[in-house]
Amino acid sequence: MKIDVYFTPLGLGAGDLGGRGIVVIDVLRATTTIVTALANGAKAVIPAATSEEAVRLASHLEKDGVLLAGERRSVKIDGFALGNSPREMTPAAVAGKTIVLATTNGTPALVAAQGGEPVLVGAPANFRVLGERARQLLATRGDLVIICAGREKQFAIEDAYTAGRLVKVAKKGTRKVELNDAARAALVLTEQFASWKEALADSEAALQLAEADLAEDVAFAAKADRFGVVPTYANRRIT
Ligand code: MLT
Repeated sequence: MKIDVYFTPLGLGAGDLGGRGIVVIDVLRATTTIVTALANGAKAVIPAATSEEAVRLASHLEKDGVLLAGERRSVKIDGFALGNSPREMTPAAVAGKTIVLATTNGTPALVAAQGGEPVLVGAPANFRVLGERARQLLATRGDLVIICAGREKQFAIEDAYTAGRLVKVAKKGTRKVELNDAARAALVLTEQFASWKEALADSEAALQLAEADLAEDVAFAAKADRFGVVPTYANRRIT
């Protein structure tokens, strides 16, 4: 049995992922936002690698059923209906809608994970049910991949901490699980913080969000097990 963690999707090729069970994590904020949107009734989320791609993808969809959402440096993209705040994904805003989402790190990481089977979307917000699915995947496949979106092509501590907690839950009760170095490092990281709140608090992403007056999103993302959904990305849509 084997768990591989990647601290960023950089350098990952389709050959590394084809047919493997994958969890993608971008705690601040893309995967927290996607989990929230789907738990609150969005029909689907379509991740786009760039804002231009988001506009193109949205133009092929029914106008009144689609919402463009996304951020650059945490701030809503001009002309888009929504930013990338989980607090914007209220039932009133998103129920029944298809959201085309473009973010700096999270949606490109999801696009890079295409080819996995399944590709699951994870965050503290759905951690309990995500942990169950990850455990099942490891038990049935003998293999699990966890991809952290990271930040600006670099390591992001909140994603790595969440990956470590997921490694811990997924391998619990299983005797021999081979871990790559990143999975081992992520496990070590789980000993460094007493809570999600602590792990997220001083991260570079949290500081950027505070500068953009979005510190409440950090508090939102740090509250675990808000939702019982595990979104799955297949055929270019997360449902
Ligand atoms: C991202 O996907 O790059 C992030 O979630 C950044 C953000 O929304 O602040």
